[in-house]
Amino acid sequence: MRLRNVKNMDEIFTQATHYVEDAKKYCGKVETLFPKKQPLHIEIGMGKGDFIIQMAQLHPEINFIGIEKFDKVLARALPKIPDALSNLKIYKLDAREIASYFQKEVDKIYLNFSDPWPKARQAKHRLTSPFFLEQYDQIFKGDAVIEMKTDNVALFLYSLEILSQHGYSFSNLSLDYHKLMDLPKVMSEYEKKFTEKGIPICYVTATSKKKRGG
Ligand SMILES: C[S@@+](CC[C@H](N)C(=O)[O-])C[C@H]1O[C@@H](n2cnc3c(N)ncnc32)[C@H](O)[C@@H]1O
Repeated sequence: MRLRNVKNMDEIFTQATHYVEDAKKYCGKVETLFPKKQPLHIEIGMGKGDFIIQMAQLHPEINFIGIEKFDKVLARALPKIPDALSNLKIYKLDAREIASYFQKEVDKIYLNFSDPWPKARQAKHRLTSPFFLEQYDQIFKGDAVIEMKTDNVALFLYSLEILSQHGYSFSNLSLDYHKLMDLPKVMSEYEKKFTEKGIPICYVTATSKKKRGG
């Protein structure tokens, strides 16, 4: 994602009611951030926020947290969030530290168009690498559910292999889900861009029922 300078960045963060500063202090009590106690879904690498904002609007019965590591990207997302949307919060963090922010509280993780890190030596940075799956093990409340979308077939195949080795099984698996699957399509910025160019989108729901440590 290209990072352009954003004017009035400090002001955007100060005025953003959905942004959670000091998010670590809610570890183990994330539900206190929301008016209703209900399932918690998070998106890691939310970018400019289109997906998670739409999901929160469509699903008032679920609490959502969008996660992004870059200020400049978040500064584009925060002003888009309607004030009245009470089931969405935003955290700034690098997902490698995610286990310090949630304690067996998450019901589902969305990974939309994660950075592919194409070189073999970069594999550890992929959000579906064994390191990240181990972090996720620590934050899921019950069964682990990861919903992944990407245009990048190499990242998708890598992810299926690692997820499978980690005990996940797959449903709704497709290499071109827009054409081949009758699923609701809430599109992220990247998804819109690729779909307009006719690029097929890979999709999977991965679930693991195994007992987790941590
Ligand atoms: C290719 S963009 C996709 C954005 C959005 N999900 C979409 O589909 O339009 C990937 C985003 O993930 C963020 N990201 C990458 N690694 C991350 C990490 N370890 N922790 C948090 N965010 C991360 C990047 O900063 C970037 O905004």
